[in-house]
Amino acid sequence: MVQIPHPLLLGHRGSPRQARENTLESYRLALQAGLDGLELDVQRTHDGVLAIHHDFDLQGQPIATQTWAELRAKAPWMPRLEEVLELSQEFPGCWLNLELKSQPPETDGREQALVATLHQGPSLEQVWISSFDPLALIRLKNLGVGVPLALLAHQPEVLELLPCLPVQGVHPHHTMLSEASLANFKARGLFVSTWTVNDLTLAKTLLAWGVDGLIGDFPEILLPARG
Ligand code: G3P
Ligand code: MG
Repeated sequence: MVQIPHPLLLGHRGSPRQARENTLESYRLALQAGLDGLELDVQRTHDGVLAIHHDFDLQGQPIATQTWAELRAKAPWMPRLEEVLELSQEFPGCWLNLELKSQPPETDGREQALVATLHQGPSLEQVWISSFDPLALIRLKNLGVGVPLALLAHQPEVLELLPCLPVQGVHPHHTMLSEASLANFKARGLFVSTWTVNDLTLAKTLLAWGVDGLIGDFPEILLPARG
């Protein structure tokens, strides 16, 4: 069971309306604004670096087929995971939700790279990993990742996989949640975070229902929602 002290407010790719998404600047702005943590998108380059980028490609070329040097030459703003872990050290107590981007069924070793990086990095107490790819979650568990795992879902039928998966949490899109479905997840011992919450009324409703985490683009909407 994951111990989450209070509902967490997480910046979706940082504070993406103030700075380019998934950059150190965007993360810093989200944390300086007072959010509890960050959601960020993790991928593996061809030479095994964990690069932070949302889309599976950059300028039409897959991230997975490019080296870190090639990527960084094209996108000097793109951080690697180690840089984000280092930045998080400047904000004691901050939480990190690493979303592992992965396209089933094959793996290129991204789960192993993530486990190795986390095991070499700073404290893992306030880190968890989410993924839309159930196979990636199983691989992470088999590799002894040592941090909580959560299934991301934007189709209701995906939730039927939950009993088979080694997850402690679930991240449904907010349109899939109701007070009753949230209570059902919680009764099953799962923590529940949802995305992308950019509306104050919606944020307040979800918090009143008892959601454990809100992931959104606007610190100025998330923070007043919690009051
Ligand atoms: O992790 C929540 C959310 O980021 C999932 O969707 O496409 O924004 O990465 P996406
Ligand atoms: Mg994401």
